Amino acid sequence: MSGATTASAGRIAGVAVALDTPDESRFDLWCGTFGPRVEVLKVGLEAYVRWGERAVSRARSTGARVFLDLKLHDIPATMAGAAAAAADQGVDLLTVHAAAGRRALDAAVTAVDGRVGLLAVTVLTSLGPKDLEELDLPGTPGRRASAWAAVARAAGCAGVVCSPLEVRALRAELPRPFLLVTPGIRFGGATADDQRRVAGPRTALRDGADLLVVGRALTGAPDPGAALAALESELRRSGDPDQK
Ligand code: C5P
Repeated sequence: MSGATTASAGRIAGVAVALDTPDESRFDLWCGTFGPRVEVLKVGLEAYVRWGERAVSRARSTGARVFLDLKLHDIPATMAGAAAAAADQGVDLLTVHAAAGRRALDAAVTAVDGRVGLLAVTVLTSLGPKDLEELDLPGTPGRRASAWAAVARAAGCAGVVCSPLEVRALRAELPRPFLLVTPGIRFGGATADDQRRVAGPRTALRDGADLLVVGRALTGAPDPGAALAALESELRRSGDPDQK
């Protein structure tokens, strides 16, 4: 995961497909479509709450790395227990919320003992400045993401999840191999949906992202396989980021 655009064995490096659906047969279908073609499959709360470890096993059977996006946010002991359970399931990446605080992050890092890369979610990509104001969280999303990312790094997390709009500033503060993972990716005319802080895939990679999380721009496309091919050629194209 270094932000490159091609991977060995024909997989598109630096791309994680978010398998968000309540329909198990669609989940299976997407595993078949995307699993052999991308570096990472992301199992999120929607699938995990429905099918648990079965969703993880199905994603892992494709040979892709598995990113379990549970966004744990709890007291240190609970974080540690849940993170250890995820590690036992053989996932490669797991999310925790940076807002759980330093001691909870420390506990999760200790519990997984290097078996899983912990990614700390900074400010959700669905939150805009107005949402933060309403929550009485002063300052820009960028400042908050930077402060929380610093805590995550100090705790020994493998990286953070941030918006593509923050990735350039965070990369300047947090050199590789610290991972910057960016949801909120849109391309090919896909709408922002519930997301607020979005950008195109080439912009995010240029600015320093290691892993692009792409969901509905692929899974919501009329032909998800064709949308993946379009993303791949977009990532291979030379020239300015995300020009039309
Ligand atoms: O469909 P879309 O590309 O917007 O999906 C983004 C995915 O990334 C979803 O699975 C969502 O849960 C996840 N995510 C996010 N923002 C974060 C962390 C994870 O959108 N900060």
